[in-house]
Amino acid sequence: MISISSLTKNFGQTAVLRGIDLRIDAGELVALLGPSGSGKTTLLKIIAGLEWPDAGALKVNGQDWLTLPAQKRRIGFVFQHYALFPHMTVRDNIAFGLTVRPRAERPGKSVIAAKVDDLLGLLQIPHLADRFPAQLSGGQRQRVALGRALAIEPAVLLLDEPFGALDAAIRRDLRRWLREVHQKTGSTTLFVTHDQEEAFELADRVVVMGEGRIEQIGSADQIHDRPSTPFVARFMGAVVELPVTLRAGRVEAPGLDARGLERRAMADGPAQLFLRPDAIALEPDAASPWTLAHKTSTGAMIRATLRHETSREIPVDLPRHSAPDLAIGSAYRLRPLSGAVFSLEGTAPTEAPRPVVSLKEKRT
Ligand SMILES: Nc1ncnc2c1ncn2[C@@H]1O[C@H](COP(=O)(O)OP(=O)(O)O)[C@@H](O)[C@H]1O
Ligand SMILES: [Mg+2]
Repeated sequence: MISISSLTKNFGQTAVLRGIDLRIDAGELVALLGPSGSGKTTLLKIIAGLEWPDAGALKVNGQDWLTLPAQKRRIGFVFQHYALFPHMTVRDNIAFGLTVRPRAERPGKSVIAAKVDDLLGLLQIPHLADRFPAQLSGGQRQRVALGRALAIEPAVLLLDEPFGALDAAIRRDLRRWLREVHQKTGSTTLFVTHDQEEAFELADRVVVMGEGRIEQIGSADQIHDRPSTPFVARFMGAVVELPVTLRAGRVEAPGLDARGLERRAMADGPAQLFLRPDAIALEPDAASPWTLAHKTSTGAMIRATLRHETSREIPVDLPRHSAPDLAIGSAYRLRPLSGAVFSLEGTAPTEAPRPVVSLKEKRT
């Protein structure tokens, strides 16, 4: 089990980790999801012992790892560009971590060979055993890199965007494959990615990071339907932000039909509604301040641009076959199918207090 508490890290004046608290159970596969620069790699490096925090604690299976040098941590690490040894065969690359152990801890030659054979089978690459890295595709190289990381039976497996350089179709295959490998090995694994789909498909528990903080921990559905901060809402694609008024838990605004949104346990007053362009339906309504300014078709979808009477514009994506006949210049009301609501500065929400902090930061 990995237990991280109040971990902070600054590079000069830049706060890169601002108090990370995270527990990962033994055998769990957790995805760490966040945009570039959010501190994911720094967190992995601290766990690996390649970087030290300014404050906080890191324990693995009850042992304090911050006082343990990197080579004693039994870490398996796979990077996006993992340099396999070019002059070694696949077999020798996988065996490497075992063959370099001090003599007293090194398994015998036949034990290592049997172990490598097992791994080649598990990784579904026995036919590649005698090839050199230059004779492999990118996806095959990452399988070998994972084999090398697994050979030492790591206490913790750290994967930093390991499929980031590969084509979408290969990535999808490797994801499914990694899940199978994880089910068989049960390694405690932290998988870093900036790709939502990858995170959600791989892991039951996804940790969303933004600007050095954990913004939300949850399943794909929870993060998608109930983002706990404005940051997560935006990161999940809710780029339409509307000022609304909360009354008895209901969201209200001119030209907005919020019947599709559930009631919120939040105080009355001004709030901000976050919507994804593909979760908004349009209905003709002559009294609405929103009119259709443009529309273009992508074949499957119609991307509409709605203009408010204040001349502010928002995108709305509708499935082309079920979209109404939209007329440029006509007025439509917005009917959200789902959405997230956060309080504005100065109001006291009774739900999800953290968004207020994030909003304040964004506004100052
Ligand atoms: N060695 C370093 N020295 C100075 N700044 C760094 C160093 N490593 C990372 N950073 C900064 O820390 C922030 C987080 O980086 P990183 O952990 O690599 O994020 P991510 O992996 O999420 O993209 C970035 O702003 C990056 O520029
Ligand atoms: Mg990174």
